[in-house]
Amino acid sequence: MNAKLSPAHSNGDLDAFWMPFTANRQFKANPRLLARAEGMYYWTPDGREVLDGVAGLWCVNLGHGRREITEAVTKQLSTMEYAPAFQMGHPAAFELANRLAKVAPLGLDRIFFTNSGSESVDTALKIAIAYHRARGAGQRTRLIGREKGYHGVGFGGMSVGGMVNNRKFFGASMLPGVDHLPHTLAIEHNAFSRGLPQWGAHLADELQRLIALHDASTIAAVIVEPIAGSAGVVLPPIGYLKRLREICDKNDILLIFDEVITGFGRVGKPFASQAFDVTPDLMTTAKGLTNGAVPMGAVFAHRKIYDAFMQGPENTIELFHGYTYSAHPIACAAALAALDVYTREGLLTRAASLAPEWENAMHSLRGLPHVLDVRNYGLIGAVELEPRTGKPGARGFEVFLECFERGVMVRQTGDTIAMSPPLIIESKQIARIVETLAAVIRETV
Ligand SMILES: Cc1ncc(COP(=O)(O)O)c(C=O)c1O
Repeated sequence: MNAKLSPAHSNGDLDAFWMPFTANRQFKANPRLLARAEGMYYWTPDGREVLDGVAGLWCVNLGHGRREITEAVTKQLSTMEYAPAFQMGHPAAFELANRLAKVAPLGLDRIFFTNSGSESVDTALKIAIAYHRARGAGQRTRLIGREKGYHGVGFGGMSVGGMVNNRKFFGASMLPGVDHLPHTLAIEHNAFSRGLPQWGAHLADELQRLIALHDASTIAAVIVEPIAGSAGVVLPPIGYLKRLREICDKNDILLIFDEVITGFGRVGKPFASQAFDVTPDLMTTAKGLTNGAVPMGAVFAHRKIYDAFMQGPENTIELFHGYTYSAHPIACAAALAALDVYTREGLLTRAASLAPEWENAMHSLRGLPHVLDVRNYGLIGAVELEPRTGKPGARGFEVFLECFERGVMVRQTGDTIAMSPPLIIESKQIARIVETLAAVIRETV
C-alpha cells in the first residue's frame, strides 16, 4: 500500500469521523462546531450565538429544544425502546399514521414509515413499480426524474436525481430505465420573480416528449420536488405542476411529490401539494416530521395504491419492503409530540402569514453586488450570486463562512445561498438574517 495516508492526528479528535457532504480536510483544519441549541439559535462550544437561518438542515421547523418532544422521547425510551414492525405493531405507530392521514393531501391516507428522506424516496419508487405490477401492468418500470432534482442518496434517489456531483462519482451504477425532465430554473426569463415564476409552465410538456420516446406503457412514475431545495431553490413556474398532473393522469403514470423539505409547514400549508392545489399519488416526507429530533421518514400513499396491494390471499405479505426501524417507537413518540406542537401553535400554516414580510426581506438584497437572482416562496429564500471566473462556488462558500462568523447560519449550494428558518421566526430575526447577508455580500469581492 503506497497510498498517501491522511495525517494521523492532524486535528486531534476530528480525524476519525468521515463527514458527509463535507470538504473534510478543509473543515478539520478550521472546524465549525455546534454545541447547544434552543429556539432560533445554536451556540458554538465557546458560547457564541448563531441564528439558525436554515432550521438545521430544513428540518427543525418548530425551533430547537422543544420540551414536549424531549419529554415524549424520554417517556417512550423508558417504557419501550424498541418494537419490531414486521408482523408486529405498537400503538404509537398506528396513532401517528392516523394523525398524519388527517393533515395529508386528500386521499393520501396510507402511511409507510422509513428513517430518512432517502429511504422514503426509494420506498416510493418501489411502491410505484410494484403497484403497476399488482394491477397487471408489470412492464411499467421506467422512472422519470428531473434535472437538478435531489432525492437523497440511495441508488434509486440518486438515479432519478439530477445533481451532477451526486451522480458522476458513482459511474454507471444507476437504476436502468430512468429518464429526466428538464429543470425549471430560467433566470433569463424569471430573475427576481416574487413567489412562483410566470415563465415555464410549458416545460411540463417535455413529459409528453418522453412519453412519445418511451411509450406510456413502460413508465411507472414521475418524481419531482414541488420546490427543489438542494439544487439552490428551484421553483415551479405557475401552472407547471398542474400540467404534470394532467399528463400523468392521461397516461396512467403515477406522480410522486418529494416533500422532504416542503412538508410540514414550510410553504404555508402542511404540504406544498396543498399550497399548489395539485395532489400526487405518492408523497415522500422526513425532516420536519419529528422536527429533526429523531430520524424518521414517511411515505404517504393514495388509498387506491394501498388497495391495489390488498388483493390475493390474506396471509400473504403484500409488500416485501420495510426497515428494522420502520415506525420506531422513539421516532413515533417524537413525531406525535411534534404534531401536537405544529397544531397547537398553528405552525403548519404560519409561513403563509410571514411570507410577504419574508419576500420583501429577501428581495431587499436585489441590486447588491454579484446578485443575479432572488427566489422565494413560503419561508424559503435563495440568493444566487455570480460565480467567480473559473471558480464556481468560491464566492458562495465565502459568503456562507462569513455569515457564520457573524452569527448567522445559512446554506450554500454552489453560488446560491439558501435560507429556510424555523417557522417560529420573528421579524427582528428575519431582519438580522438579511442585514448580515447584505453586509457580507457587499464586502465579498
Ligand atoms: C427533496 C429531498 N429528498 C430527499 C432528501 C434526502 O433526505 P435524507 O438526507 O433524510 O436522506 C432530501 C434531503 O435534503 C431532500 O431535500
